Amino acid sequence: MSGERHFPEGFLWGCATAAHHVEGGNHNCDWWEFEKRGGILTGDSADPACDQYRRFREDFALLRRLHNNAHRLSVEWSRIEPSAGEFDRAQIEHYRQVLLELRDQGMAPMVTLHHFTSPRWFAKRGGWAASGAHEAWLPFVRRVAEELGDLVAFWCTLNEPNIYAYQGWLAGEFPPGRKGDIRGFYSVLANMRRGHEAAYGELVRLTPAVPVGIAQHKWLMLPADPARRRDRFAAASAQFFMDRWPAGARWQRVVEAPCDYLGLNHYSGSLVAFSLRRAGEGFANRFNPPGLPVSDFDWAVEPRWLRVCLEQLRPLGKPLYVTENGIAAIDDRRRVRFIRDVLGHLWLAIQDGVDVRGYFHFSSHDNFEWARGYSMHFGLIGVDLKTQERTVKPSGWEYSQIAQANALAAEE
Ligand code: BGC
Repeated sequence: MSGERHFPEGFLWGCATAAHHVEGGNHNCDWWEFEKRGGILTGDSADPACDQYRRFREDFALLRRLHNNAHRLSVEWSRIEPSAGEFDRAQIEHYRQVLLELRDQGMAPMVTLHHFTSPRWFAKRGGWAASGAHEAWLPFVRRVAEELGDLVAFWCTLNEPNIYAYQGWLAGEFPPGRKGDIRGFYSVLANMRRGHEAAYGELVRLTPAVPVGIAQHKWLMLPADPARRRDRFAAASAQFFMDRWPAGARWQRVVEAPCDYLGLNHYSGSLVAFSLRRAGEGFANRFNPPGLPVSDFDWAVEPRWLRVCLEQLRPLGKPLYVTENGIAAIDDRRRVRFIRDVLGHLWLAIQDGVDVRGYFHFSSHDNFEWARGYSMHFGLIGVDLKTQERTVKPSGWEYSQIAQANALAAEE
């Protein structure tokens, strides 16, 4: 068809999940404790979520029918290493089956090693805020590399250290539920940087053929009034702390960490105005750009921003993957529109010469959305929580068509 916008050959089309979003039955991690303490705002339970621990074969078969050729998932640390230094053979075998199934279905597995959940024993010691946290994580990383590395197409060490540290230690929305703990926030980021660097070294040594990256969340901070210096300053400082982690005496951009590829998670952004009344928040008053639609999460929806984020990563000279992008919308027509629009901007970025090699939509299924439980619908596939029945939404078919054609239809 003329006017079709083709993606590069071999482009990866997948969906992104994490164990706790979809598996169900993760009773040995800090999120389970958090849930029991009343940490889930909706009162929902992550058990059984999508019950994917048991239903992974049918779920992957469905994704394959939807022409996905890759899949991003996380292996659950608390299952594999239920107590410090003790590894559970049966759980390792389970994940071998999971990865084998993806391979059999023709989907390249991108495996995340830490996606927001930690074993209870690790959390009890202070989690990522405790000194030596990165060393406590490494035996798990090594074991997974040794046992599963032959089936992995990409490693993703950490998911969104910035969001993780912010939500757990400043906002209190993730375990351990600390609010305003700046020292904890700082330690988490510092230890995650050490953890990533050490894991990178180990993964390269143990599985030299598998590219290693990180998934970093980019939330755009834009000056409310670009003509006002104070707004530009407030936006730049907000962006500074959103994008960086401590590396010795300086704050380094997370995307400058040692990596073979970079993973971009992007959903939204804010306008930032300087405000003397917000001293505690770096003098930044953040709000949604007036006039833009918002998702069910109240996040501004602006598909063009994906291209902005990708352009910003281009100078780093690494292959890029969009490791998460999507929209919380109960009204699936919005997701259909969003997918067409956002992929149009991704395509434009590629035309500009940005080396983007794959896109992982968040998410395959409606799933357990952390502290928001089941109230947020990000999935291409709906899940009936009572019967566990799956229903492909129109957005799922839309995504499938694009993936199959490796192209977007001509613009209407
Ligand atoms: C996380 C996902 C999450 C998504 C939507 C990202 O911050 O990596 O796990 O569900 O945003 O909130």
